[in-house]
Amino acid sequence: MNNPEILNSIRSLISTAPDATSLLTEVVGLLRRERPHYHWVGVYLLQGEELVLGPYVGKPTVHTRIPLHQGICGAAASSGQTLIVDDVNADPRYLACSLETRSEIVVPIRHQNRVLGEIDIDSDHPAAFTPLDRDLLEAVAGLIASELL
Ligand code: SME
Repeated sequence: MNNPEILNSIRSLISTAPDATSLLTEVVGLLRRERPHYHWVGVYLLQGEELVLGPYVGKPTVHTRIPLHQGICGAAASSGQTLIVDDVNADPRYLACSLETRSEIVVPIRHQNRVLGEIDIDSDHPAAFTPLDRDLLEAVAGLIASELL
């Protein structure tokens, strides 16, 4: 599917999913299936000063709770801006999840400038994320934000 087709599928999921957890489970599964370079796809939800792991696909991670001042995840949530890291091993903020991971994108989920959580994606390929991925994931975050209130 191209980006607009994925976004349309997510609109349908929003209209049918019984609750936010089911919706996020469907969304991370769809992204994983449709974009083979997305090897780990998860959503973290902001609870107080911590990011708490919600639905994900990929290997289990030890980072199920990330304080806002830690990791690439914390940096993206604190700044409210998308972060793309082409080489995770060269970024001192990086919290390793899998040894195979080479690059990462983190996209905040915001509602009226308040960060509710973020979409976190790891790839086993270096510099895997392009502006097309960023556009897609920022649009996905925009669609699902109001479902998380
Ligand atoms: N790499 C992230 C931690 C989450 S795991 O990738 C699933 C980070 O540096 O914040």
